[in-house]
Amino acid sequence: MNWDDTTDTAGSPERLVGASADREDQAVEAALRPKDLGEFIGQEKVREQLDLVLRAARARGATADHVLLSGAPGLGKTTLSMIIAAEMGAPIRITSGPAIQHAGDLAAILSSLQEGEVLFLDEIHRMSRPAEEMLYMAMEDFRVDVIVGKGPGATAIPLELPPFTLVGATTRAGLLPPPLRDRFGFTAHMEFYEPAELQRVIHRSAGLLDVEIEPDGAAEIAGRSRGTPRIANRLLRRVRDYAQVKADGLITREIAAAALAVYEVDARGLDRLDRAVLEALLKLFGGGPVGLSTLAVAVGEERETVEEVAEPFLVREGLLARTPRGRVATPAAWAHLGLTPPGSQAAGNGQQDLFGA
Ligand SMILES: Nc1ncnc2c1ncn2[C@@H]1O[C@H](COP(=O)(O)OP(=O)(O)O)[C@@H](O)[C@H]1O
Ligand SMILES: [Mg+2]
Repeated sequence: MNWDDTTDTAGSPERLVGASADREDQAVEAALRPKDLGEFIGQEKVREQLDLVLRAARARGATADHVLLSGAPGLGKTTLSMIIAAEMGAPIRITSGPAIQHAGDLAAILSSLQEGEVLFLDEIHRMSRPAEEMLYMAMEDFRVDVIVGKGPGATAIPLELPPFTLVGATTRAGLLPPPLRDRFGFTAHMEFYEPAELQRVIHRSAGLLDVEIEPDGAAEIAGRSRGTPRIANRLLRRVRDYAQVKADGLITREIAAAALAVYEVDARGLDRLDRAVLEALLKLFGGGPVGLSTLAVAVGEERETVEEVAEPFLVREGLLARTPRGRVATPAAWAHLGLTPPGSQAAGNGQQDLFGA
């Protein structure tokens, strides 16, 4: 395997519930990755479809069609790319869009592929334009034109490539130009996971990490994992630390809740930044609407951090809405923070126990 670049750079590394991978994750993730489709939890539709695609290719003795995987960070795109290679008994080469800035970089990779090899191109939406155009031809005709020389004297030397399988991954399928999207024979959209599925992920990981956990403990962690296996695995490791230091190592519901309260991950998976944003919106701006920049200043963060790190989850949870006039809190946001919206008769039932400890 060849790591040309790391992935998922958005979000600050110290955020416990951020979906991007940090250094520690990358090391542990390798150990926790399901190795074949049977071990891959959830995503039933994707698994069933991919299983057919791969079985058929194997039966024909052919190289599998190009596969596009789209979905939020931490849902299993890299894992699936490795599973595709494993299921096809093929080697895998791993690189990413940002690592390929010149068409020449791509030509070098493509021309060194073995027959049947899987080329995993992470963050494929961040590839440069010229590289993208070279990729079109490579995907369709297994051929590239290598340009030699510059200006009017430049010549294109056609280069045959062995058949290979491109597995592209993107968090933003909408950003892919249609000609690129159309060249994938199979597109899989990965959804966020249900709590019950995350619970299975946590049990599996606990087994591999030799951690003792009760079903209730796993459920408690699952409920705070934002539908994301990477976050579930990360929270599991932090709860394990707590259980080792403060108890006998066994993860019960109480231990999980107490541990996650220490790390400021609340009962719904919101962390300190998410809660700061919501609190500012409710307490300082009466629930909005308020502009993004104003909100960012109020919590002492960059505009981009609030927009890209905190907001997507708050919006997905139905706690915050983006409107043309600004950010607005939903009734669920008031309820979650145990606050009463102005002008509402119903008195809040006091401060909720947000950490569920
Ligand atoms: N369906 C799944 N079943 C079990 N573990 C999973 C699953 N999906 C992801 N994981 C785990 O979550 C972590 C992140 O997965 P990864 O494939 O790196 O996500 P992505 O590439 O989409 O950001 C890995 O440790 C992986 O083992
Ligand atoms: Mg990845």
